[in-house]
Amino acid sequence: MRLNLIGAGRLGRTLARAWRDAGHCEIGAVLCRDAAHARAAVAFIGAGQPTTTLNDLPAAELWLIATPDGAIAQVAAALAQVAGLRGDDLVFHASGALDAAVLAPLADRGAVCGSLHPALSFADPQRALAALPGTACALEGAATALPRLEALAQALGGQPFRLAPGGKAAYHAATVVASNYLVTLAALAQQLAAQAGLDTDAASAVLGPLMRQTLDNVLALGPAAALTGPIARGDAQTVARHLAAIDDPLLEAAYRTLGLATLPLAALPADQREALAGLLKTDPKP
Ligand SMILES: NC(=O)c1ccc[n+]([C@@H]2O[C@H](COP(=O)([O-])OP(=O)(O)OC[C@H]3O[C@@H](n4cnc5c(N)ncnc54)[C@H](OP(=O)(O)O)[C@@H]3O)[C@@H](O)[C@H]2O)c1
Repeated sequence: MRLNLIGAGRLGRTLARAWRDAGHCEIGAVLCRDAAHARAAVAFIGAGQPTTTLNDLPAAELWLIATPDGAIAQVAAALAQVAGLRGDDLVFHASGALDAAVLAPLADRGAVCGSLHPALSFADPQRALAALPGTACALEGAATALPRLEALAQALGGQPFRLAPGGKAAYHAATVVASNYLVTLAALAQQLAAQAGLDTDAASAVLGPLMRQTLDNVLALGPAAALTGPIARGDAQTVARHLAAIDDPLLEAAYRTLGLATLPLAALPADQREALAGLLKTDPKP
């Protein structure tokens, strides 16, 4: 089998290298808009023909569009005009947010379309290559695409799972909340620690182990059993003191919203739940 890679950045070059190393497929064309980028990708992969134009691409059974998300639709429309594409070729992208519908012009040409999203950060291709084994890979698309995408994920050493049709946006939102917003929470906590007079090192020493231990508890026990603190205890006085102390409107809004989202996790009598909800919903200080 041959793979043509369109968009050979961090993710594209890492996956192509892994599939080649695994002997799953040979590498055909490696396409970027910039010729130097394409050559650098070929050097990393250890195989492939660098190119900058879709008209140059050889026949292939597998086509990965690994451009940034915003370019996938335009690349798919252009690729649909390329004579080298054959009826049952598998064309897929790796976006977490978009589904296979973005490849519609290719499906109209008879291509089998889908997506394979590895839940991994590809910030550094060499490190990502080492981290690929065991990575969860979300698959969706045409029924005939799924077994072929499964084989591709397994060749990476990944753990494939299928997403229900229409589930891609909610799945991606889940990964954003779990990963990106965890970063946001750490930053908000550090801001509050700074307000309390702790420098960055002191704040990290207090908050880092607390965050790690809490994450371990959530993963081991589930969110409701892992919850401790004033909302779990129904302690409205402490929450009121926090709200009075927080001096940044954005941070206060985040504290209120997260508090309201935390309430359903706490097993509280109705009166305590209502008192906390009322307090958290109260308009911010004028
Ligand atoms: N990075 C991650 O951690 C990660 C994780 C999971 C999924 N993904 C997904 O993987 C895909 C690629 O992301 P990435 O982070 O690897 O992006 P990236 O590092 O920015 O690489 C994008 C590549 O596409 C090329 N390119 C850009 N526009 C193009 C166009 N119109 N036609 C052809 N090539 C084009 C770029 O090279 P030129 O500029 O030379 O054209 C570059 O080689 C996205 O769908 C993303 O959502 C990424």
